Amino acid sequence: MESKLISLNNLSKSYGSKTAVDGIDLIVNEGEMLALLGVNGAGKTTTIKMLSCLTRPSGGTAQVCGYDVVKDTDKVKKLIGISTQETAIARNLSVEENLSFMAGIYMDPDKYSRKDIKDRIEKIIADFRLEEVRKTKSCKLSGGWQRKLSIAMAIIGDPKVILLDEPTLGLDVLARRELWRAIEKLKKKRTIILTTHYMEEAEALADRIAIMISGKIVMTGTLTELEEKTGQKGLENVFISVAEGGTL
Ligand SMILES: Nc1ncnc2c1ncn2[C@@H]1O[C@H](COP(=O)(O)OP(=O)(O)OP(=O)(O)O)[C@@H](O)[C@H]1O
Ligand SMILES: [Mg+2]
Repeated sequence: MESKLISLNNLSKSYGSKTAVDGIDLIVNEGEMLALLGVNGAGKTTTIKMLSCLTRPSGGTAQVCGYDVVKDTDKVKKLIGISTQETAIARNLSVEENLSFMAGIYMDPDKYSRKDIKDRIEKIIADFRLEEVRKTKSCKLSGGWQRKLSIAMAIIGDPKVILLDEPTLGLDVLARRELWRAIEKLKKKRTIILTTHYMEEAEALADRIAIMISGKIVMTGTLTELEEKTGQKGLENVFISVAEGGTL
């Protein structure tokens, strides 16, 4: 049985005269991973920020588990884990300390014992293969390790919804593959929206793909559906035909 976990309805955001997101409708079902694609400036990050209550919509609605991002901000924030382009890592804390700091915020002490919290941190360190850097100050980590830590921090409180804004930006091939494996492990139990400029990443990970152009979602579907709609083979060709076709 499918249930709507995320529901965007005519959602918009303007900055002055600039419309960043232009009346989008989108549904993401429970357990689904959706890749949001679009060229630079298409409105992906703005959409993610509205969903995670970091920026307020100018119009329309966004709901997570039936809670409205404007009216029920506290509830929505509890349901969401986010890893953004500007990550929230505390540079002077070690990997372990950053995880423990986030666990302190996101794991309710009325619900989780100290042992639960400790076990959770150990599981995340193991899942993300962070053992060798656990004592390292975050400012000394390479970009790839920082991305991994950022995602680990986003999911420490076991959120129902995970928003990943360009999770593998600038990573080498091996680090990217390793992060894909970590993201794969998050699938099914959680609902995930991921933005990326890497078509093979969306192909490898996403159940469904949405393509944004100039603030609008112009096409949504599985890879096969998008291939059928455009008559193209492979996501890169689909994307190029849609992006270059402009207003479809
Ligand atoms: N705080 C802001 N003030 C003014 N304009 C903004 C602001 N944030 C975003 N914009 C504008 O909104 C549009 C959408 O930006 P957004 O960051 O959502 O794009 P994006 O799809 O995430 O792009 P990228 O792939 O480069 O990350 C762009 O034209 C951008 O310049
Ligand atoms: Mg962006």
